[in-house]
Amino acid sequence: MGNTDSRVTIHMVASLDGFIARKDGRVDWMETNDDFPAGETMDPEFIKAFLKTIDCYVMGSRTYETALNFEAKGFGWSYGNKPTFVLTSRELPRKRDTVEFYSGDLAQFVNGRLRPTFRTIWFVGGGMVSAECLRLGLADEVRYSILPILIGDGIPFFEKLDRDIALHLAEVKAYKSGMVELRYEVRGRRDESRNAS
Ligand SMILES: NC(=O)c1ccc[n+]([C@@H]2O[C@H](COP(=O)([O-])OP(=O)(O)OC[C@H]3O[C@@H](n4cnc5c(N)ncnc54)[C@H](OP(=O)(O)O)[C@@H]3O)[C@@H](O)[C@H]2O)c1
Repeated sequence: MGNTDSRVTIHMVASLDGFIARKDGRVDWMETNDDFPAGETMDPEFIKAFLKTIDCYVMGSRTYETALNFEAKGFGWSYGNKPTFVLTSRELPRKRDTVEFYSGDLAQFVNGRLRPTFRTIWFVGGGMVSAECLRLGLADEVRYSILPILIGDGIPFFEKLDRDIALHLAEVKAYKSGMVELRYEVRGRRDESRNAS
């Protein structure tokens, strides 16, 4: 299975009712305005240092298209100079050298190509790809950031998951902004014995 130290993380931000975007893809609801005085403050230096620990990103084509739209509107590219793998069966614009497209067997790609090369592999959405990653038993952990809002309908964090996935709650952080960050280990992965008490 290649690099035994490698770790696959799924990370997304969602509403409390579990949606990562509205049905039409809008994420306007992410600008929440809350105040939780007991929470932690987001430290930009910490975030910068943390992002450096991520070795590569993986995303679905719809998430990539959203990222391109954001960039076109002047909001920048969120994935720095890190290798970014986009899952797609289509011909999509390639605007930077760090982007690579892949189509096919996701398990083979992650275990045969990514794990031997990268230690910290981040799946950054969307719902379809995060569910595929879990269904295939590829994820080691899920980082779920909940914003203080309900939006009623939208694209779910895990699109059409067809079985139960047992998790171990490993970390909880609440922020002054009202966001709660949950980190779960996926049970049954090789790390479990290390983390279970
Ligand atoms: N809140 C957040 O943190 C967050 C994070 C990420 C995304 N989002 C939002 O989520 C929405 C997108 O999510 P989504 O679930 O609709 O789509 P998605 O997961 O981003 O992309 C799904 C697409 O990826 C391609 N794909 C998936 N597996 C593949 C494989 N093994 N091989 C080849 N291609 C594969 C297919 O596209 P093709 O048709 O191209 O083959 C599929 O339609 C966007 O609105 C985005 O803004 C939110």
